[in-house]
Amino acid sequence: MKEMISKLKEQFDSKLKEVNDLGSLEQLRLDYMSKKGRISELMKELAKLPNDQKKEAGRLINSFKEEVTKHFENRRDQIIKLEEQVLINATESYDDSMPTNNPCGSYHPITLVQRELEDIFESMGFDVEDYNEIVDDYHCFEALNIPKYHPARDMQDTYYLTTKNQLLKSHTSAAQNAILKKYGKALREEGRPIKAVFPGRCFRNEAIDACHENTFFQMEGIMVDKNISVSNLIYFMKTMLSQVFGREVTVRLRPGFFPFVEPGFELDIKCLICNGEGCSSCKNSGWLELCPCGMIHPNVLKYGGINTEEDPYEYTGFAFGLGLTRLAMMKYAVKDIRTFNSGDLDSLSQFINR
Ligand code: PHE
Repeated sequence: MKEMISKLKEQFDSKLKEVNDLGSLEQLRLDYMSKKGRISELMKELAKLPNDQKKEAGRLINSFKEEVTKHFENRRDQIIKLEEQVLINATESYDDSMPTNNPCGSYHPITLVQRELEDIFESMGFDVEDYNEIVDDYHCFEALNIPKYHPARDMQDTYYLTTKNQLLKSHTSAAQNAILKKYGKALREEGRPIKAVFPGRCFRNEAIDACHENTFFQMEGIMVDKNISVSNLIYFMKTMLSQVFGREVTVRLRPGFFPFVEPGFELDIKCLICNGEGCSSCKNSGWLELCPCGMIHPNVLKYGGINTEEDPYEYTGFAFGLGLTRLAMMKYAVKDIRTFNSGDLDSLSQFINR
């Protein structure tokens, strides 16, 4: 037994050194600690030993197990620190006071984030759609289960145009109805699920400060098919956010109210800076609020021509609204939202090589 343990220990030490990310670390942990893992195999061997050797061998296995657990924890902490460092290095390279003598133009940081997200969603089979900035009352509100004079309209301080019935889109959800109608036929006739994302500029009458702008970007996404549930929503959000941040993120859902989803949620991710322990970035809560979402309300699917009155739950779907501007601020550690619309070349041209 002693020999078996010391061999395993050697193997374990060398494998642990090779592990550089949390995913492979977890794999290694399962390899050793799961029910079918190597330590359980040792326990089986233990049962075969004569009684007078069992006590000593049991003690050895237990102390090996404790040692392995400790090593895992230490390595996990190391990897998390390294990953944090990478994230912080990536974000700290932005400095809005840096002068530039950059002779040519560069992409706007929001364009960069938008394109990155589009690539991720396209790789998961989503279509990317465009939509107007000037929309009518029906698309922005009524088709989203927000009737005229409903108090939910107060949630969005909307700019109405003097042209009858027109307004500046206050959220990307305004495109939902048109997209449901565009792809509904293929869903109903060919069984092709609707999977679409639609980025866009939105406008609300906000008092402007470092965190609020009257002009900002969102990216909305919907998926509609038979049997779509909250688990599909969680899976897609988690996969997408893990890719955006380049590491596995933990998500949680809290209830949230939006008239066009039922149930509606606020999706939070565990703070990437402190890993949930609480820091100034997450206001000591350990979580960052990132993305409102929910299951598309039956009325919205009905207005979009997806379900009939007789069977309002034939197809179901989820929707989410990502704040692109917010994400760009997080990703590049931009502290003042006003930078984005400032046209300030010193700040914006730092993104030239990204
Ligand atoms: N459109 C909502 C807003 O801007 C966000 C949202 C989108 C909520 C999709 C739920 C589902 O406030």
